[in-house]
Amino acid sequence: MTWWVFRKEEAEKTIFSPNGKIRLDFNLKNNQVFYTVSKDGKSIIKKSKLEFEILGEDLFKNNLKLIRNRTSRHEETIETIWGEDKYLENNYTEAVFYLAESGKAKRIFTLRFRVFNSAVAFRYEIPPQPSFSTVTVKDERTEFNIDLNSICWQIPAYQPDRYEYNYERTGIYDLENSVHTPLTIKTPNGFYLSLHEAALYNYGSMTIKLNHDKVLSSDITPLSDGTKAHVNLPFNTPWRLIMIADSAIELTANRTMYCLNDPPSGDFTWVKTLKFIGIWWAMYVGEWTWAPGERHGATTAHAKEYIDAAVRLGISGLLIEGWNEGWEGDWLENGINNKFTVATPDFNLEEVASYAKAKNIELVGHHETVGFVDNYEAQLEDAYNYYAANGVHYIKTGYAGSQIIINGKKEYHHSQAGVNHYQKTVELAAKKKIMLDIHEPIKGTGIERTWPNLLTREGARGQEYEGGGLRPSHACYLPYTRLLAGGMDYTNGIFDITNNVKRISTTLARQVAYFVTIYSGMAMAADRPFIYEEKYPELFEFIKKVPTNFEKTIPLAGEIGDFYVVARKDRGSEDWYIGGVTHSESRRVHINLDFLDSGVYKAKMYIDGEDAHFRDNPYSINILEKHVGKSDSLDIYMAPGGGFAISLERSQSSGV
Ligand code: NOJ
Repeated sequence: MTWWVFRKEEAEKTIFSPNGKIRLDFNLKNNQVFYTVSKDGKSIIKKSKLEFEILGEDLFKNNLKLIRNRTSRHEETIETIWGEDKYLENNYTEAVFYLAESGKAKRIFTLRFRVFNSAVAFRYEIPPQPSFSTVTVKDERTEFNIDLNSICWQIPAYQPDRYEYNYERTGIYDLENSVHTPLTIKTPNGFYLSLHEAALYNYGSMTIKLNHDKVLSSDITPLSDGTKAHVNLPFNTPWRLIMIADSAIELTANRTMYCLNDPPSGDFTWVKTLKFIGIWWAMYVGEWTWAPGERHGATTAHAKEYIDAAVRLGISGLLIEGWNEGWEGDWLENGINNKFTVATPDFNLEEVASYAKAKNIELVGHHETVGFVDNYEAQLEDAYNYYAANGVHYIKTGYAGSQIIINGKKEYHHSQAGVNHYQKTVELAAKKKIMLDIHEPIKGTGIERTWPNLLTREGARGQEYEGGGLRPSHACYLPYTRLLAGGMDYTNGIFDITNNVKRISTTLARQVAYFVTIYSGMAMAADRPFIYEEKYPELFEFIKKVPTNFEKTIPLAGEIGDFYVVARKDRGSEDWYIGGVTHSESRRVHINLDFLDSGVYKAKMYIDGEDAHFRDNPYSINILEKHVGKSDSLDIYMAPGGGFAISLERSQSSGV
C-alpha cells in the first residue's frame, strides 16, 4: 500500500471558463497536486488536495513530475434524443496534465480538467502501463475545500433505504456522516453549488464527508472486501463535478452532467418516452395484492380492463406488477426465489401482450429483484428475451432491500458491484431494444446520454412513501437536489388523496403540477383509472396532454425547499406548460410570460382554490381558461402544500 502522491517539479497553471468568469488553478507543489476554483474573483473552492491510493505489490512511487500539459477549447451543441432540452451547449476549456514518476518504473497518469461557464469537472485517468494492467483502488481522496460556514441540503449515505430520505438542511461544519451526491451547497459569499459526479462506470459511487482536517472530501463507496474498485487499464474515474450558480433557480438548469457523458453508443432512434398507468396503486391502498389470491392485482382480466381504460384515457402504456412467481408471503424476505419468466396461474403474458398490441398499448414489464442480484443475473438473458418475444419494450426494475446480494456477498447498491450490475441491465436492454425505469437505482450521473434507453429512475423518496412519510417541502427540495441527477419516476397523479391507507400531503392541483415540475422520460399517472374517469375527467385532460419530451426548459422562480416554478416547451408542438409547487405555506407567484413565442395562446389553468389546504381541504381547485401572449403575466395562488399547472396551447392563427 502506498500513497500515489503527485510529486516533484513545481508547476502552476490557470484556466478560465469560455466566458472568463470561472477560474481554475492547478498547482503541483511539495509533491502534491492541488486545485482551487473561483468565480468573478470570489472564492468557491479553496486549495484542495487530489490523492489516489493504489493497493498491491507494484507500487506507484511518489516522486511524480509534470511531463507536459495541454489546453484546448471545445464548442459543441448537443442534440438530445429526449429530455428536458433538445439542445445543450457543451462549451468548455480543457486542461490536461500528464504526470509521471521520475524513478525507475516511470508509470504515468493523467489529470483532465474541464472548466465550463457554470461548472468545473475533472477526473483521474490511468493509461495502459508497461508493467501492469490491473489496479485495485484502495482510496480516492478528492477534496472540495468549501467554506465551512456554508449550508447544505443532504441525505445520508450507507443507509438501509438507499436514497429514500427526507432532505435535511445543515451546516457543512455539522456533517457527521457521509452524504450522497448531488450535494447542494450555499456558500456565505452567495454561490449555489452542487457536488456530484458524471459518467459513473465500473467504480464505487462518490459520497461526501467532512474529513479529519475538516475539509469536504470524497468518500468512495467500498466493496465488501473494503476496497473501492478493481479495474483494468486504461481506466478513467467518473468526472468529479462542481456545478456553480448565482441563484438556486439557476442551479436547476445545470446540464453539465449530461455534457460530460459520451454521445449515444449506437442507434437509439427507436427510444420513445412514455406515459403509463399501472396495476400498482391499487396494491398500495390495499384493494389488490401483489401476491396471488382472491385480491390478486395482476390477473389477465384486470390487465385487459386496464388496457381498455388506458385507451379511453388516451395514455400509451400500462405497468403490470405482481404478475410473476415470487410474491407469496413476505415478498421482501422471500424475493430470493423470484422467477422472471414464470407467470402466476391467473396471468397469461402472451394473451395480455397480444391484447395490448391490438389496442396499441405498450406494456411496461416488471422485475422486482428485492436486491437479490445473483438470482436476477442468473435469469437476466431469459427474462429480457421473454419480454422481448412478447413485444414488451419497457421494463420497470426494482431493488427493494437494504443491500444487494452479488456473488453471494452483501454489497451497497452504490458500490462498484452495484454500478456494474445496473450497467449490465442497461446494456442488455439496449441490445433487445428495451427501455428501462429503474427503482432503487444507482443515482443518475448522466449515462442516459450514452444509453438513452435508460428513460428514468426513482432514487429518492417518491409518492409511494406518503401516508405520513413525506412533507410538502419534499417536492420543493427535489428540483434543487435529486433532480440535478436527472429525471425521476415520482409516480405522480394521485387524485384519491384522502384514501384511508396512503393519505397524501398534497392538493389536487399539485398532483398535475408534478408532471411539469418533476421531469421523467417515463411518466406514471399512478392512480387507478376509475378515479380518473369517474371523478376528475377534466383534470385528467392535463395529464393526457402534457408531454414527456421537451424542446426546452426555463426555470422561472424558486428557493430550495420553499417553492419551484418551471416552464417547458413541448418538443412536438408550439405549446408550453408551466408547473409550480410550494411547501406547507401558501404563496402567490407572478409569472411573466415573455419567454413565450409570439402569437396567441389558450391558457388552461389548474389552480388551488383559495380555501384549499393539503391537510383538510385538498380537493378545492379552480380550472380556468383565458387567452394570453408574451406581453402578459399571470398571478397564481398556491395553497399550503399546493401547486398549479398550466397548458398554453398556441392558436392555429398564431405565428404573426
Ligand atoms: C419499490 C418500488 O419503488 C415500487 O414502485 C414497487 O411497487 C415496489 N418496490 C414493488 O416492486
